[in-house]
Amino acid sequence: MEYIDAKLLITAVKPSQYPDTLVPEIAFVGRSNVGKSSLINCLTNRNKLARTSSTPGKTATINFYDIAGRFRLVDLPGYGYAKVSKTEQERWAKMIETYLTDRYNLVQVIQLVDARHKPTQDDITMLNWIRRFGYTPVVVATKLDKLKKSQIESNLTLIYHTLALDDSCFLLPFSAEKKTGREDLAEFIDTLCSR
Ligand code: GTP
Ligand code: MG
Repeated sequence: MEYIDAKLLITAVKPSQYPDTLVPEIAFVGRSNVGKSSLINCLTNRNKLARTSSTPGKTATINFYDIAGRFRLVDLPGYGYAKVSKTEQERWAKMIETYLTDRYNLVQVIQLVDARHKPTQDDITMLNWIRRFGYTPVVVATKLDKLKKSQIESNLTLIYHTLALDDSCFLLPFSAEKKTGREDLAEFIDTLCSR
């Protein structure tokens, strides 16, 4: 499945700047540097649509990407990066929270975790927040290409248990680099937004 005609619609820091037509939105959350912006580029097959960086803290605003006027992918700042100042982290946290709580055309929050590591306390807190707001947990384990084949199953199991996932949840192995899981995620999002 191709996401044709993807474009950056608006960059926002507060609700008055959000797009006002209410097409379905899918938001991506996760630690700084986990690969949120890269995942959006991978989904849209556009290398430079969302700006990425090997330095964490790249995305500092809420970026709305329009997909052919049908739905939007929403890139949020990351959390949990110690080198971003406390004030800045708090500002981002507030910005993320405001968006997530007030946005009624938000159909799903998708959480990214690094496939190489045990999810952090921040990840657990984030996922519990997603549950509390009534979304089914959907977790994407990124950077799968950085794991050896022999590590994949045990790492995914660790993520599954650490985040207390169950059969009702989705855990999708993904690599923006190799496009692993891209087709499944693209279909999944398209279905969510077509309901
Ligand atoms: P912030 O905007 O800082 O919150 O980060 P982000 O979550 O948007 O991460 P970003 O997409 O900027 O990616 C961070 C770094 O990880 C970049 O150097 C990417 O090239 C790299 N990266 C992202 N996804 C993958 C992946 O699937 N595989 C590999 N090998 N590298 C990846
Ligand atoms: Mg980013």
